[in-house]
Amino acid sequence: MITVLLSVSICMPLNLIPLRVAPRRASTTLMISEADLDWRDKTSRSTIEMRDKSSRPAIVKDLKDAGSYDIIYIGFPVWWYTAPTIINTFIEAYGFEGKTVRFFATSGGSDVSGADKQFQAQYPAINWKPGKLLNGASKKTIEDWIKD
Ligand SMILES: Cc1cc2nc3c(=O)[nH]c(=O)nc-3n(C[C@H](O)[C@H](O)[C@H](O)COP(=O)(O)O)c2cc1C
Repeated sequence: MITVLLSVSICMPLNLIPLRVAPRRASTTLMISEADLDWRDKTSRSTIEMRDKSSRPAIVKDLKDAGSYDIIYIGFPVWWYTAPTIINTFIEAYGFEGKTVRFFATSGGSDVSGADKQFQAQYPAINWKPGKLLNGASKKTIEDWIKD
């Protein structure tokens, strides 16, 4: 929900460009099912991806001119205390070296410290700002964070 709120009512007025990181299989966009998200199932898509830290699920690469953005905002649900590995695919697909990247997340209760540490360690050439947990955040909270 937070991502929809961000895209429609916050990004547009602030002249931010929303982009969805979509998984890809062959040449088609892949829909993620409830079964894929079952963290108790050792054979589910999310479990397999998160157990293998080198997994890089394919994405639809549709950001044409990544170099022209000053600040990149990345949003995701916390999976196993950090970002889903598809977010690594996104970051590595575009590089973002020397860019400022801010990220936000939703979770079932975990904070964003795991993702903070992981991003700093994995991508030191990016200027990371501390991540923000936006569980149940209001429009104003999100706007204030973006303008901060
Ligand atoms: C595979 C998987 C792993 C998850 N791991 C965590 C976790 O480590 N900590 C946590 O607080 N929530 C965890 N969650 C819960 C999600 O972060 C939460 O459902 C999501 O942020 C809710 O987003 P939504 O309101 O947009 O649906 C996990 C969910 C899934 C599917």
